Amino acid sequence: MKSLWWLILFLFAGLAIAVAVGFGFNKEEPIHYDQEQAGLNKKVVIRFSHVVAENTPKGLAVNLFAKLVREKTNGMVEIRTYPNATLFDDATEFEALRQGQVEMIAPSISKLSARYPEWMVMDLPYAFMNERMVSEAMDGRLGQLLFQAIDDANVMGMALWDNGFKQMTANREIIKPSDFQNMKIRIMDSPVLRSQFQVLGAQAESYSFNDLYRQLESGAVEGEENTLSNIYSKRLYQVQTHMTVSNHGYLGYTVLMNRDVWNKLSGSQQEAIRQAMEETTVWIRHYAKEMNNKALTELKKDKGLSIHYQTDAERQEWQKALLPVYNQYKNAIGETVIREWRKVIEEKRDAS
Ligand code: LMR
Repeated sequence: MKSLWWLILFLFAGLAIAVAVGFGFNKEEPIHYDQEQAGLNKKVVIRFSHVVAENTPKGLAVNLFAKLVREKTNGMVEIRTYPNATLFDDATEFEALRQGQVEMIAPSISKLSARYPEWMVMDLPYAFMNERMVSEAMDGRLGQLLFQAIDDANVMGMALWDNGFKQMTANREIIKPSDFQNMKIRIMDSPVLRSQFQVLGAQAESYSFNDLYRQLESGAVEGEENTLSNIYSKRLYQVQTHMTVSNHGYLGYTVLMNRDVWNKLSGSQQEAIRQAMEETTVWIRHYAKEMNNKALTELKKDKGLSIHYQTDAERQEWQKALLPVYNQYKNAIGETVIREWRKVIEEKRDAS
């Protein structure tokens, strides 16, 4: 009888140990954890998912941000990065963030604009003349209004990271607005971008970024618009014969974080992340342009890609053809945002 009691005791002890190990009483918490509330030896892991390659402005910015956060928190906060849509792709990342399956993402503005219509202003064709104008807009009242518009209870807007201006690529020459007639073009999922190509007589299809190479290769779509760094790093030039350097639209990223996770961080962790974010934002502003220039130098070496630089007269023709897009979206964007955007471009135009 005594040995039966010992056996039962032994089995219970074994079970208790298995539960403790199995349910992870390990030092590394998979996500957020508040140091101040529960000891200093717990490490916080924040997963940052994105869809582009690491050798792009966004890919490098995420890596730099991770490094700065590690340094500023002595390794107690780890930003774990997932490039190339290895965790979530552009169609799934927003919901995943909202539901806490990932803690940070940086979707392109275009992919966010259907949720927050004020952001559509950034997607309008030829809305900004250069990167400086974008920075001044985002640092001023316009940026404030746009970040206020992210009114989701569980999603927090943190910064805008630059990539740059978009160019057109296709398997035929695109010089005049009429060259778009009946062309099947891949777009990011954005109402403004859909209209932009529809008014030019093209057919716009939205596909995720990671499918883009395949869709171009198979001929499912004939063209697309993107920044030079994306065209180069995703090797889109290998499946396109023509590129027009048109700078017809801006592409940047809204860095978003799960609000619940943010609220559970300690004050010093939040401060470290905020500072790392600010430093990364300043860095990417300078570096993105350099990366796009480097990508152009590389693209010029490709014999299979014919590059056309849009002239001023051609740009004016495109602008005229695209004017209906402004009328179509001005109400959805809202008068206040449109007014602030106009102020920026008019001030800049006068100053130049
Ligand atoms: C796209 O075309 O989907 C992109 O521009 C993706 C990105 O995040 O840069």
